[in-house]
Order: sequence, then structure tokens, then C-alpha cells
Amino acid sequence: MNYLRSHTSASERLFTRRQTLLLGLGGLTGLGASTLAHQFMNPSFNLTQPTLNPPTLNNFNFASLGNTPLRQRAANKGLIYGAAVRQYAVSSDTQFAQAVVRECAMIVPEWELKWNFLRPTPSTFDFGPADWLFNFAQTNGLLFRGHTLIWHEVGALPQWFGSVVNFRNARQLFLDHITTVVNHYRGRIHSWDVVNEAIHIPDGRSNGLRNTPWLNWLGEDYINLAFRTAAQADPNAMLVYNDYGLDYDTPQDEAKRNAVLRLLERLKAQGTPIHALGIQAHLIGGETRFNAQKLRNFLTEVANLGLKILITEIDVTDNQLPINIQARDQTVAGVYQDYLATVLNERAVVAVLNWGLSDRYTWLTEFAARSDQAPVRPLPLDDQMQRKLAWNAMSNAFNNAPLR
Ligand code: G3I
Repeated sequence: MNYLRSHTSASERLFTRRQTLLLGLGGLTGLGASTLAHQFMNPSFNLTQPTLNPPTLNNFNFASLGNTPLRQRAANKGLIYGAAVRQYAVSSDTQFAQAVVRECAMIVPEWELKWNFLRPTPSTFDFGPADWLFNFAQTNGLLFRGHTLIWHEVGALPQWFGSVVNFRNARQLFLDHITTVVNHYRGRIHSWDVVNEAIHIPDGRSNGLRNTPWLNWLGEDYINLAFRTAAQADPNAMLVYNDYGLDYDTPQDEAKRNAVLRLLERLKAQGTPIHALGIQAHLIGGETRFNAQKLRNFLTEVANLGLKILITEIDVTDNQLPINIQARDQTVAGVYQDYLATVLNERAVVAVLNWGLSDRYTWLTEFAARSDQAPVRPLPLDDQMQRKLAWNAMSNAFNNAPLR
């Protein structure tokens, strides 16, 4: 643990548990979806850079903002606001489902489109829980996005994966999975996280690629292959490369930003059908190494490649903050405020999604619990579905964002 503390950034530490699980191998219609995707890819999109606001840490105004939900404030600026949800929660908790419909314009399944849910056996697919969420989205006029086709994480892979997949069958399984899953929602989905978290600097490769089973079996071209296969199955979905650890002014995040940029440049240079970068933005309450200008420069470089940007999984850990709820909420809100003020100034940013909507359902309860056992409060709604200061901060950020 001491080793980790001195050699990894806070965000890497947060993910340590996931990484230790690594395999030993080292109301959207078809027409609506297609129109949307084409809008995002419009090459005449105005990418001029507005001036940066200075960071406003602990210096924000939380005056009453009225009742307008986040989705409406975002939409007023040409942005999409949404959240990751779990099917069991939406289907069993009416209060939560109502909050989702009230605040969100888009949902993404937190679990249900991962291999461990979709692939009960190597030869079968179970779209039940994901389709339930898709239908919920359609019934309530919400956009639907997909997460994630290719990810190394053992916690998101079926138990059979390690013993069944090998050098001989990996390519076919990879192609079949992407084709079948993308085809299932063809023309009806906003976007796909095609490849998730493929950069990991500590693995020591010169291009920063993570040592994953797919890299070992298929070689470095696996990322290009995944995007090409997805584009064939659904030419209208926005195809996204998604990653974390890109946010802070630390050597680790700086190295990762550079490696992600090089990866995106390589993919664009070889004509890979990639349309956007997904920045997860799992932020850390109490982390002061935030440099708005550096983050902004990174976004500009991504935009200059002709890519859109989605903030795909934003939340703020509070397990290093004091137990006092008011102080904690204030710090968490300040992190949202500073981060969103910075990223929303970049017009290539087209969507913001929280990883969860209410503190009642957040992965951080399990992955970043507080040592004093107090419930964590990383999201815009509390565990009673009440709006918090984080909601105010997000509202404020959308209100102040430039129009897309
Ligand atoms: O499968 C059981 C389920 O049957 C049961 O109802 C539930 C009760 O707690 O537990 C389920 O297992 C959980 C599993 O997700 C569901 O597949 C595990 O406890 C849990 O550790 C696991 O974690 C998820 C993780 O991805 C792996 O899929 C997190 O909730 C989810 O938030 C996290 O999401 C990732 C993104 O995909 C990628 N970016 C980072 C983000 C946070 O790690």
C-alpha cells in the first residue's frame, strides 16, 4: 500500500482494486439516431476556442437556480446530459426511475452491456436486462448509449472467459461479439464506447498500450479492428474511445493524456472510423492538482483531430473529505464547478454523463468507501433523490456554457 501511495496518483489508486483483477495474461427512432450521429460528425462544426475562465475553487455562487432539470439546461446549450443506470434500480425503484426521467436526456447501462451480462455462455447472448433499459429509454424519450464493447476488466467479463478464449478463437469471438451487439441496436443508439481503457502507462510499452488479453491475442491493431467492425455493424452510431486518468496536473495523468493523444492520432492517420473521445472524469474531492489550462489544451488537441468529446462518467469521490455533510458537499460541488467550467468551454464537448445519478446507487459505495462508514455523496442527487450542491454546480456550469 505504501508503494502504491508513493508511486501512483490518487486516480490510479482509486482503480487499483480493478487493476488487480486483470487477467493473468498480462425515444430514439432509427431516423432520429442517424440524424443525431450525422450532426455530431458535421465537419463545418465551429471549433473556435473561447477564452478560459480562471479556476474558481471554493469561490462559486450557489444561489438558488430554480427547478429546471439538468437535461433542459444542457439542451439549452446544445449539450446532452445523462447518467449511467442499473436495470435493477430503474425497474424496482419508482422514485429513482422518476428522477432519471426528470433529469436525464440520455442513459447508459452501467452493467448490462458488458460481457458478463451479455454472454452467459461462449455461444449465446442475453440482451434481456439491456433491452429492458433500452425500452425504458424509448418509452420515456431518452437517448441510449452503449458501454462497452471491448474492455479487459475481469469484473466485467464472464467467468468462462479466461478458460475458453485462446489464440485460436479470440479473433472470431471478438468480431462476433462486436457485430452481434452493435447490430442489435443498429440505427437506434446514440453512441458506443467501442474500446475502454486501453492505455496504461505502468505496463511499460513505449506507446502506452495496456497489456490486455486482446492485445496479446490480436496485436496492437485490435483497437482499429474493433472500431472498423463496429462501424460496419452500425454506420450511424458515434464511435468512442473511452478512458480515465486524464484530468489532473500530475505526471501520471500528463503521460496518459499524451499517450491517448498519440493513440487518437494514429487511429485518425490510418482512417479508423473513430468519432469521439470519452473522458470518464472520475474526479477526486480534495485533489488540488487541477490545471484548467493544461486540461483545456488537451481538449483542444483532441478537437483539432476532428473528434468530438464526451464526459462519460463524471463523479467526485468524497472518501478523503471531512464527515461534515455541508463541508463535504461544498467541496464536491466545487470540483464539479471547476471541472465543468473548463471542459464545457470547449465546443467539441457534446455530452456530459454522470456515473450514476443518485448517491443511492453508486459504484463508489463499494470501490471508494469512507473509513468512518458514512455513506458516500459523489453524485448530483442524494440518496433520497434530493438535489445537492453538486446539482447546483452542474446547473450553473450548463447555464454558463457557450452555445454549441
Ligand atoms: O453481479 C452482481 C449482481 O448480480 C448483484 O446484483 C450486484 C449486487 O451488488 O453485484 C453484482 O456484481 C457487481 C458487478 O459490477 C456487476 O457486474 C460487482 O459487485 C461490482 O464490483 C461490479 O463493478 C462495476 C464495474 O464497472 C465492473 O463492471 C461497477 O459497478 C461499475 O460502476 C464499473 O464501471 C466502470 C466502467 O464500466 C468503466 N469506467 C470505470 C467505471 C468504474 O469502475
